Amino acid sequence: MTKYKGIESPAYVLDETLLINNLKLIKSVKDEADISIILALKGFAMWSVFPLVSEYLDGATASSLHEAMLIHEKMGKKAHTYCAAYVPRDFEAIMGVSAYMSFNSLSEYERYKPYVTSSSDVSFGIRVNPGYSDVGTDLYNPCTPGSRLGVPYDHFDGELPDGIEGLHFHALCENDSYSLERVLLSFEDKFGRLIHQAKWVNMGGGHLMTRVGYDTKHLIQLLRDFKTKYNVDIILEPGSAIAWQTGDLLSTVLDVVDNQGVKTAMLDVSFTAHMPDTLEMPYKPLVEGADLEPKPGQHVYRLGGMSCLSGDYMSEYGFDQPLNPGDHIVLKDMMHYTMVKTTTFNGVQHPSIAIMRKNGDIDVIRTFGYEDYKNRLS
Ligand SMILES: Cc1ncc(COP(=O)(O)O)c(C=O)c1O
Repeated sequence: MTKYKGIESPAYVLDETLLINNLKLIKSVKDEADISIILALKGFAMWSVFPLVSEYLDGATASSLHEAMLIHEKMGKKAHTYCAAYVPRDFEAIMGVSAYMSFNSLSEYERYKPYVTSSSDVSFGIRVNPGYSDVGTDLYNPCTPGSRLGVPYDHFDGELPDGIEGLHFHALCENDSYSLERVLLSFEDKFGRLIHQAKWVNMGGGHLMTRVGYDTKHLIQLLRDFKTKYNVDIILEPGSAIAWQTGDLLSTVLDVVDNQGVKTAMLDVSFTAHMPDTLEMPYKPLVEGADLEPKPGQHVYRLGGMSCLSGDYMSEYGFDQPLNPGDHIVLKDMMHYTMVKTTTFNGVQHPSIAIMRKNGDIDVIRTFGYEDYKNRLS
């Protein structure tokens, strides 16, 4: 692969130009809709590009003390923080690095109420369950029956609790604005009275506005109408949309095994350790120069991860040429929910992290070694 000639595999390679294109598009939505858009760190936390992200977006959202600290340290901004449950020993530290904090339940709010009613530095909110989601995979759907995420509408008595200024919901995953419209119908129906009392509404993530075909005009109109109707500040906190299709995972074929008629190209990366969503969602990632569905006459290979997990592979891809040890395999769109989720299972080598600059130069900004593996254990 000439584009990646000279870089040692394995490596996540971010294309700076593609990231900037996404950021420009998102900023135009933010400006036209007159809302705030922030980066969800859980999806993309490559902090070496936080200065770039800050040029276009309003900040970032955290789901833990450590994410909030990273935002504060590397973006120079206070975080919007929502934790599924706050750890008591972390709470004051999170307050120190957050401008917004949302609770996941009313009982949790009650426990921290003295902070809520006495702090003027943090604006507090409650995450609610809007009662509708288009997300088909339960693993990613926060609105399934009995969901532990967000307060159902019948827990409220018609008033926002004392000191609570905002409402937060998250009900989308790689969805379009028409899914948001349906969520809003349910959210307004169930929480309309509370929305009128709120200063801000955080509509979570899952707004995949950088996907080709996304109707940004429709999104902008939806948000403007909502803002006018309720006179609230609106915050969106996408993760995937920021890093969508902005880079690859470069890998190398180590071996080709042929067992019972199945050829597997063994790679120097692992699906479970470096691309876990491919197995969790599951989905089959695009591979440069290969067909997802093999065509007649093509060379057909499974792509095998380097861990001992039997299922650490992707089923057949079609290649025009036979694969040999040393060939590069480029797995596409591997910037979001990858680096943030990696493990060192089996002690596998963690891919290095690199940036392809606008002029085509590639800077390897972080490499990993034995010490990184050892230091996670004791
Ligand atoms: C509360 C919350 N906000 C934002 C996001 C980011 O979502 P996405 O990366 O799909 O845009 C998530 C993802 O799980 C989330 O749970």
